[in-house]
Amino acid sequence: MIVLGIDTTCDESAASVVVDGKKILSNIIYSQIKLHQNYGGVFPELACRRHLEVLLPIIEEALFTAKVTPNDIDVIAVADQPGLMGALLMGVNAAKSLSLAWNKPFVGVNHIKAHLYGALMSVDTNVFPALGLVLSGGHTALVLMEDEENYSLIGNTVDDAVGEAFDKVARLMGLPYPGGPQIEILAREGDPRRYPFKPGVVKGQKYNFSFSGLKTQVLYTLKGQNGGSTGEDLLPFEEKKHIAASFQEAAFSDLLTKCQLAVQEFGIKQLYIGGGVSCNQTLRSLFSQKMPADVGVFWPGKGLSLDNAAMIAGLGFHVYKRKGSSDDLNLIPSPTNKILSI
Ligand code: KG4
Ligand code: ZN
Repeated sequence: MIVLGIDTTCDESAASVVVDGKKILSNIIYSQIKLHQNYGGVFPELACRRHLEVLLPIIEEALFTAKVTPNDIDVIAVADQPGLMGALLMGVNAAKSLSLAWNKPFVGVNHIKAHLYGALMSVDTNVFPALGLVLSGGHTALVLMEDEENYSLIGNTVDDAVGEAFDKVARLMGLPYPGGPQIEILAREGDPRRYPFKPGVVKGQKYNFSFSGLKTQVLYTLKGQNGGSTGEDLLPFEEKKHIAASFQEAAFSDLLTKCQLAVQEFGIKQLYIGGGVSCNQTLRSLFSQKMPADVGVFWPGKGLSLDNAAMIAGLGFHVYKRKGSSDDLNLIPSPTNKILSI
């Protein structure tokens, strides 16, 4: 089954062609980062306008690169939640229009589940039940996976998502958006034990996460208790690399501890980690060193960590196989995650 995937949830316009859920024929991503950098984050209206301009050329490029024509496409899969409403509408309306014009079925796919599918795609044999950890700019979730599509949520963030905490800490340090890669680079030079930062503990909920207190500890260290986020730095520039390393260490060791606990409690043999933060090489080496040796830890392949449409086309294959029919043309995208809420 040949699936065309489309993702316009945030500030990446993406299209991809995938065969049978795993074989990627094309994965085209147009990043809008430069457009949004001046604003220190994503400017929703500008994101929509850019999606509108680039989406059809990107879809054409995805078909061209994959050496297929619209006739060869069996299903169109589109991210329909969660994301910026206007941005989601661009992708969903494009999918509906192509579905009508080409007379092909289309299905809506959950973007967060697709992030985990990005890790599943890189492995020939997926063993369930598995543990999944979603680490994106908007979500931090620990899930028990019965299969590619069906999960139960065992842990969630009660405040900031981990990627969001990276972005906010980077902004405090005067680093450009998106902050995650900037923090990773700066942290390589720093001492992760210099500042004893601590991630939040959520009372009575051992698998839940809290990162907003960690961000505040960085703020107080950098600018003092009364400094405010735009206040003067109290510390010399030299210290920032140690702050970045200590922040990263605190956030990642919290993720590790909760995964170690969950694999033990649920007898898990495979752990899948997806979402933008899974690009981080320090995170990858921490997990490969510290997870029990009999647990396989799997990451998205190249081009599958950050927002992309290959993960949408891949998961779309399973969604369509289960449903056996097209979604309705009156499908309405959802800015919130309707499936994974606690
Ligand atoms: O999954 P994603 O592309 O978009 C969402 O669905 O949110 O994730 C983007 C997030 C941003 O917060 C970004 O700062 C973070 O992933 N990120 C990283 C790294 N690369 C991207 N965080 C830490 N280290 C990285 N190397
Ligand atoms: Zn994403």
